[in-house]
Amino acid sequence: ARRVTTQTLQEMKAARIPIAALTAYDYTLARILDAAGIDVILVGDSASNVMAGHETTLPITLDQMIYHAQCVVRAVRRALVVVDLPFGSYQGNPNEALASAIRVMKEAGAHAVKLEGGKPILEAVERIVTAGIPVMGHLGLTPQSIYRFGTYKVRAQEPEEAEQLRRDAKLLEEAGCFALVLEKIPAELAREVTASLRIPTIGIGAGVHCDGQILVLHDMLGLTTDFNPRFVRRYARLAETITEAVQHYVQDVRQRAFPSPEESY
Ligand code: KIV
Ligand code: NA
Repeated sequence: ARRVTTQTLQEMKAARIPIAALTAYDYTLARILDAAGIDVILVGDSASNVMAGHETTLPITLDQMIYHAQCVVRAVRRALVVVDLPFGSYQGNPNEALASAIRVMKEAGAHAVKLEGGKPILEAVERIVTAGIPVMGHLGLTPQSIYRFGTYKVRAQEPEEAEQLRRDAKLLEEAGCFALVLEKIPAELAREVTASLRIPTIGIGAGVHCDGQILVLHDMLGLTTDFNPRFVRRYARLAETITEAVQHYVQDVRQRAFPSPEESY
C-alpha cells in the first residue's frame, strides 16, 4: 500500500475521512498495527508510563525515545511514524529543539516529531519545520506540564484557557505544523478548533468532531487496567487473555503436560 504522508493526512481532512492513530513503542506491535491499516503510529513519550513504569512522562530520555522509534520504524511499511520529543529536549531553546528533532529523524528514521505546547515553543516549531522536518503540535492536557496543572482533569473548560487554546492552535498552524493533537478538552471546543484550522486535528478525549482519533495502544487493548479515564474505549481485554494463557502454561509445566512427544525431538 502507498505510504501515508503529511500530505495524505491533509487530503483526508479535505475529504472528511477520519484519521486513525495509535501509539506503539516496539517492533512486534508496530508490525501488527501497520498491517491492520493504522494511518499514524505515534512513538509517544507515554512509553515512560507504559514501557518503563514511570508515574509521568517526564523521566524518559531522548536516547530512550530514539531506541523505541528505531524499533517501530523497522516494522512500518505504510503508516506515518511520528515521534514525541521528550521533556527537556526542546523547551530550552530553538537550537536545542532542532538538534533533538534532527537526532530523531537521523538516528531512528522517523517521519515527523511532536512537541507539546503553544506560544512558548513557536520558535522551536518554526526552526524544526524550516529544517524540513514535519512537526505535529499538541495542546490541551499536555502531560509534560502535569506538575504545572497539578491535576489530570479536563483542560480549557474556562473561557480564558479556551481562548488561549484557540490562539495557540492558530499560531501552531501558522508556524507550519502539519497536524495538531487535542488532548482532554471539551468536545465543543475541539469541534470549533477543528473547523477553524486547515491542518487536521487528532483528538484524545476531545470528542468525535476532530479530524482523527488517537489512543494509547496498551489502554485500548486492555493491557493496562489501572488507567480508566472515560475517553479510553477497551477494544480488547488482553491483560485477562495473557493471564489465562500464562496460568495455563504454568499448570501444564507443573503437570508435565507440556511439552508433548510431538513438541519434543
Ligand atoms: O505520548 C502519547 O501517547 C501521546 C498521545 C496520547 C497523544 O502523546
Ligand atoms: Na506524548
